[in-house]
Amino acid sequence: MNWWEREGRVTAGEARLCGIIGDPIEHTMSPVMHNAAFSKLRLNYRYVSFRVKKEELGNAIERMRDLKMRGLNVTIPHKVAVIPFLDELDPLAKEIGAVNTIVNDDGVLTGYNTDATGFLRALLARGIEPKGKNVVILGAGGASRAISFVLARGGCDVLILNRTLYKARELASSVSEASRKEVRALELNRENVVRALQETDILVNTTSVGMSPNVEETPVNADSLSGVRNPTLIVFDIVYNPVRTRLLREAEKAGAQTVSGLDMLVCQGALAFEKWTGLEAPFGLMKEEVIKALERHEG
Ligand code: ATR
Repeated sequence: MNWWEREGRVTAGEARLCGIIGDPIEHTMSPVMHNAAFSKLRLNYRYVSFRVKKEELGNAIERMRDLKMRGLNVTIPHKVAVIPFLDELDPLAKEIGAVNTIVNDDGVLTGYNTDATGFLRALLARGIEPKGKNVVILGAGGASRAISFVLARGGCDVLILNRTLYKARELASSVSEASRKEVRALELNRENVVRALQETDILVNTTSVGMSPNVEETPVNADSLSGVRNPTLIVFDIVYNPVRTRLLREAEKAGAQTVSGLDMLVCQGALAFEKWTGLEAPFGLMKEEVIKALERHEG
């Protein structure tokens, strides 16, 4: 393979195909983000979205092989179910038990979890070093699993708060075992939030509360935030639609530093892009394109 081919700048009608599978899939921002990046770097790659139902997952992965697709992103509901159809798993994806990115290297499909590394990269890009920090994570679903695992393994003290307590406990015990660091769990209620925030450095919302169209909802009310004494509290909301959620607006008013889910979305996309192309992703452009697409949706 020569330099030209290796860089994906194939001249013939031989575009390399990437995409995303999930259900539902119509609101995904990934095609806009990746196609803009491919164009900017003048790469002959294309990115498309496919609605794949649960029972079609195995066939979809086989078609990826047949069509020699370079890569796929995997989203709800397939992030865990896709694992048995792959040939190799990156150690982090294995420990988290979920895959959101597949790379096809000459027929060998390897699964990665760039949600987790994207979350970390978004923090580090703001100059936030998570090691040694006290973190409160709201929610106990798939996103919480990836984030609580990387933070616990990265040396954070993690407390999971969830509306359904048994799910928080199950997740905490499984993350504790995998990360070999104790993770605590409590019910998500006002009293526990207020108490936890007194000792928290980073608050992460992984629930869907506040997501469009329910933009007036928030998982933590303004009083709880204004009572926080920590002047360097960081509030990270993984919801990116809207970009400034009510939680982030109120956290900012209370003096906290805020990070939007948009940063995590673009970071996970940039990491996938780098795995497929071997090139550095044009992060700023990808972010701008997502913002424009979100504005078009709202408009
Ligand atoms: P994801 O894979 O994106 O993390 P998920 O697995 O469906 O999504 O998890 C959704 C999380 O949001 C759960 O922790 C859920 O709490 P429950 O376990 O109690 O269902 C949380 N969540 C969703 N709606 C919520 C609400 N209105 N109030 C509090 N938590 C909510």
